[in-house]
Amino acid sequence: MYTNIFDTHAHYDDERFSEDIDNVLTALPAVGICHVVNCATHINSCEKSRLMASEYEYIYFAAGIHPHESGEAQEDFINELKGFAAHEKCVAIGEIGLDYHYDFSPREIQKSVFEKQLILAKELSLPVIIHDREAHSDTWELLKKYKPQGIVHCFSGSVEMARDIVNLGMSIGLGGAVTFKNAKKPVDVAKYVPLDKLVLETDCPYMSPVPFRGKRNDSSLIPYTAQFIAELKGIPTQELIDITTENAKNIFRILV
Ligand code: NI
Repeated sequence: MYTNIFDTHAHYDDERFSEDIDNVLTALPAVGICHVVNCATHINSCEKSRLMASEYEYIYFAAGIHPHESGEAQEDFINELKGFAAHEKCVAIGEIGLDYHYDFSPREIQKSVFEKQLILAKELSLPVIIHDREAHSDTWELLKKYKPQGIVHCFSGSVEMARDIVNLGMSIGLGGAVTFKNAKKPVDVAKYVPLDKLVLETDCPYMSPVPFRGKRNDSSLIPYTAQFIAELKGIPTQELIDITTENAKNIFRILV
């Protein structure tokens, strides 16, 4: 069994956990999970994440408006986010970014809500957690402009783009998608990304690694992703876990 596992990206406030959330969360420390960052997707989700972080010692949270939800953002959302960010266990602004695959919100609104949150993160000196799906060039323009600290999660771009992001000082989050059969780009990125710029994540309930692809994901499945990447890197799995956990603690400034 592995220990010291940091899940940098979870959505435990998702409705797919509503039936058994306490059982799922209570079971995690016994399978080696030491930290989880629950990434909010809208204001109500920030509220739920804050409650979860207050209740469970190993849960932290990121406050933010996901691109899917940006069309619903109210005028004063930045002030609301500031309120959540003041909580001692709010460690980032996220999940924020652009999604041109689903286009659930108009692109102009996605861009404006994303940019305002990048500015907020700067103002509060907090790292960001970025979602970029089929919006690489617009995401990159804004990252280049604001140069935030933090993570580009579930990274789906090319090695060239990963290199740009690493050169900017940001880290790459990899999860179950790396293990998928057709995952050429994520595998190339996993091979490329320097160990000090890599963090592990689930994006649960989504993105379960093989052999659980399609089933509900949770942090206990991270070892499957870790084993896969460790093999690509040619290092022991526990070493990969320890390095990525240290990276995540540095990014989120978690001392314990
Ligand atoms: Ni996510």
